[in-house]
Amino acid sequence: MILFLLPIPLASAMKDEGFSPLQMEALKGAKYVGSESCGACHEKEVKEFQTSTHARVSVPGEGMQIQDCEMCHGPAGLHMDAGGGKGNILNPTKDVETCFQCHTDKKMEFSQPFHHPVLEGKMNCTSCHSAHGTDVRAWSATTLKGVNETCFDCHKEQRGPFVFEHEAVREGCMTCHQVHGSMHSKMLVARDNNLCLRCHTQMNFPVIGKQSHAGRLPQATCFTAGCHTAVHGSNFDDHLRY
Ligand code: HEC
Ligand code: HEC
Ligand code: HEC
Ligand code: HEC
Ligand code: HEC
Ligand code: HEC
Ligand code: HEC
Repeated sequence: MILFLLPIPLASAMKDEGFSPLQMEALKGAKYVGSESCGACHEKEVKEFQTSTHARVSVPGEGMQIQDCEMCHGPAGLHMDAGGGKGNILNPTKDVETCFQCHTDKKMEFSQPFHHPVLEGKMNCTSCHSAHGTDVRAWSATTLKGVNETCFDCHKEQRGPFVFEHEAVREGCMTCHQVHGSMHSKMLVARDNNLCLRCHTQMNFPVIGKQSHAGRLPQATCFTAGCHTAVHGSNFDDHLRY
């Protein structure tokens, strides 16, 4: 069990972090009761959750350790008294503040000038992460294929298949994109040629491939119109120019 120290107690975090009044009201007076009995009615979630990263986390609160389900769903006392039901326990489907309680740095990332519209409520953490599953990241540590599949759910154009693939994409979208948010447009890791030169620097630089790029590099980025705009792959040109 990892002991994870919250900067602020859960209850006041809920207030400060803007849980809706409805949710606060719903939970007023509710007590933490532990998660042992959830499985009787939520077998699927409990089973999935056993091997999750979050199953190893716990936070201190009100004279006890808060862990497992109640970490995200809040005190389950009222829910248990009522024998289940809706509206008497937090359902974070639409409220990502649940996650920010502990992942405070992520709120900053989503506040960057270019970001996925999570704070705007157009998508949420579970668009890409699994709430209960083993892999909170919806892909495994050994293959990045899974992460690209997550992205293709919404970004079909980048999926291909392309006649001329760009091998970089196989290494994962995060090779070039900061997916929570970035200070560069299109959430790029870098906005200039360094984005590409990390991989495309040769001994005889400024030759790249078989062409000297001496005159070209100072003029524009590698992916400017007229150059290699088809960074994700091309059906027309093996140099990814369009
Ligand atoms: C890391 C935070 C987190 C933990 C821990 C967690 N959940 Fe959830 N739970 C969520 C989120 C987020 C959703 C909303 C799912 C979505 O948006 O797809 C959810 C949804 C649910 C739902 C509603 C499903 C539906 O179809 O509406 C149930 C029931 C549930 N969780 C039960 C549990 C149980 C039981 C546990 C403990 C074994 C648990 N959860 C632990 C984050 C969590
Ligand atoms: C006696 C059965 C029972 C037990 C025990 C139980 N639940 Fe539920 N739970 C339900 C029912 C029934 C619903 C409503 C499902 C629906 O209408 O789709 C529900 C709904 C939920 C929801 C979604 C609420 C919403 O407003 O959308 C969450 C989250 C949840 N349960 C978590 C838990 C957690 C965590 C525990 C353990 C602390 C737990 N439940 C214990 C029966 C139970
Ligand atoms: C009570 C605190 C807490 C809450 C609430 C919480 N997390 Fe976490 N989360 C953690 C801790 C601690 C880790 C482990 C960090 C580590 O091992 O480096 C973690 C790890 C993760 C990871 C990385 C998993 C991995 O296998 O590397 C992701 C992704 C994640 N959380 C997403 C979420 C999302 C999405 C939510 C809301 C649905 C959420 N967390 C809610 C504390 C929390
Ligand atoms: C558009 C998809 C997407 C959304 C939405 C998203 N994430 Fe992530 N998240 C990722 C990817 C991809 C990674 C892996 C980054 C890497 O390995 O470089 C990641 C990594 C993480 C990690 C572990 C690594 C780290 O940076 O600490 C945490 C924790 C995390 N996300 C939390 C969250 C939370 C909390 C939310 C919602 C507020 C969220 N994510 C929303 C795609 C997403
Ligand atoms: C649930 C749907 C969804 C998923 C999954 C998703 N995205 Fe997005 N993505 C969006 C939305 C919505 C926008 C914002 C589009 C806008 O503002 O016009 C966006 C914007 C972007 C942009 C910036 C586009 C632009 O024109 O500025 C990039 C790059 C991006 N996503 C990459 C990714 C990557 C990489 C992943 C996988 C880790 C991913 N997305 C997963 C929905 C999604
Ligand atoms: C080799 C670096 C690289 C990789 C890997 C990469 N991208 Fe991109 N992506 C870019 C660049 C550069 C742009 C911006 C192009 C521009 O500004 O005209 C971009 C733009 C985008 C956009 C905005 C729409 C567009 O085409 O301009 C989306 C969406 C996107 N990428 C999604 C993805 C997804 C999903 C993946 C993984 C399958 C991915 N990218 C992998 C470099 C990359
Ligand atoms: C993660 C490493 C990596 C990154 C980052 C990367 N590439 Fe690549 N790229 C490759 C690999 C590997 C190949 C295939 C082998 C080769 O031709 O060098 C390739 C091939 C290419 C090709 C086709 C080669 C040819 O014969 O014309 C072009 C064009 C290209 N990349 C442009 C870019 C551009 C533009 C960027 C920046 C947006 C970029 N690459 C970023 C790894 C990368």
